[in-house]
Amino acid sequence: MPKFVIQGGKTLKGKITVSGAKNHALKLLAASILFDSPVAFENIPEIEDVFRMSELLEKMGAKINVRHSVSNRETSGHALIVDPRGIKKSELDREITKRFRASIVAIGPLLGRFGKAALAHPGGCVIGERPIDIFIEGLAALGAAFKEKDETYFFEAKKLAGADFTFRVPSVTATETLMLAAVKADGKTILRNAAMEPEIPALADFLNRAGASIHGAGTATIEIDGLGPDGKLIATNAERVIPDRIEAGSLAILGALTASDLTIEKCAPEHLGSLLEHLKAAGVFVKAGPDWMRIKRAKKIGAVNVKTREYPGFPTDLQAPFCILLTQAEGRSEIFETIFDNRLEYLKDIARMGADVTFCDPHRAIIAGPTPLRGRVMESPDLRAGLAFVIAALVAEGESEIHNVYQIDRGYENVEDKLARLGASIRRVSA
Ligand code: EPZ
Repeated sequence: MPKFVIQGGKTLKGKITVSGAKNHALKLLAASILFDSPVAFENIPEIEDVFRMSELLEKMGAKINVRHSVSNRETSGHALIVDPRGIKKSELDREITKRFRASIVAIGPLLGRFGKAALAHPGGCVIGERPIDIFIEGLAALGAAFKEKDETYFFEAKKLAGADFTFRVPSVTATETLMLAAVKADGKTILRNAAMEPEIPALADFLNRAGASIHGAGTATIEIDGLGPDGKLIATNAERVIPDRIEAGSLAILGALTASDLTIEKCAPEHLGSLLEHLKAAGVFVKAGPDWMRIKRAKKIGAVNVKTREYPGFPTDLQAPFCILLTQAEGRSEIFETIFDNRLEYLKDIARMGADVTFCDPHRAIIAGPTPLRGRVMESPDLRAGLAFVIAALVAEGESEIHNVYQIDRGYENVEDKLARLGASIRRVSA
């Protein structure tokens, strides 16, 4: 297994381009199951979770071709054509499903297409309990029965019928799954208290361009006029993946800590409002245009409290990188992780690097700073904390080794090359 070897303390400078959003690309690929035509995609990130989703579709009978885009802006790999017409199976491959959470989204289109879907418990980041009860409740409202046998979940619907369903708590992947299932249901579905993350309206726009009728995605109430089981979805143009807001936000945080001048290109600052306000509150120089941000290392970073929330609140996926910034802030900052119940564990490693961390309860911690960080050997627990370790190592004095790089490769494309071009000392070494 490869590892990253990082020498901290370098000043970064330059321009960096953000890749396509993992959590949009994965849902687009899953949505292709519903289509009656090949579907072309651009700006697909070359990351492990996308490779797993592609394998999942191929195991069911889809054909996937890597191609050069019509506009020639893309190199191969970032542009794919998925032909879903050969899909015959409605059961997700067990081993692949266990490797990433987004695999569950495929059950929405499988139900729409075949009236049934089966899967093992989906894997993904170890960030607390990740139940599927809301999926079961929502799909039941649309008419799908659920049973569990031999560690496999089975969903079956003689007929999917539109329903009025309220999420107990807004769930991103459950909102996407229900939206996808409802596209080929009979009648109107209303999803209330739905998640509003930018990847959700982007997914709805894609489906609408192909013939679906979805309104309100990106707000808490989504209405889907079902096409019925015989309705057709036909893709006409290549669908472009939106910029990864979590990669962009993490780079902004890295810039605030280490860069004399950093420009982040091909990003969507409008999706990062809460982070940018937190950075400004901490005294960081940030300038943002429609698709770029410019960040400079702050001479003095001020303490600022952070509470993760559903979009448009502060994203849980930026909590770990932001906490690295807080280790360098003057004073006490309180971190309140409200979305997941085991997402502060990585702070134990950051404390071993020299940070002053007090754990209050599983959801809350206090960081007192600034404290110098020292390089260490660490293991990536999940992709977001893994990238936070990379940021901490770039800030720290001396050398760090980060193991379990697969976790980082799940969500970030070529991270070491991108950072090295800015002047970071980071190498991938085969262990
Ligand atoms: C999505 O996960 C993202 N994953 C996560 O990104 C992200 O952290 C999360 O949304 C929150 O923004 C993908 O899009 C693939 P949720 P998801 O369901 O959909 C509870 C990354 O690193 N819940 O919105 O799994 C759940 O436990 C990943 O890219 C239930 O109780 O998150 C949590 O407390 C990590 N029952 C809350 O809802 C359910 O059936 C919100 O989670 C489903 C969820």
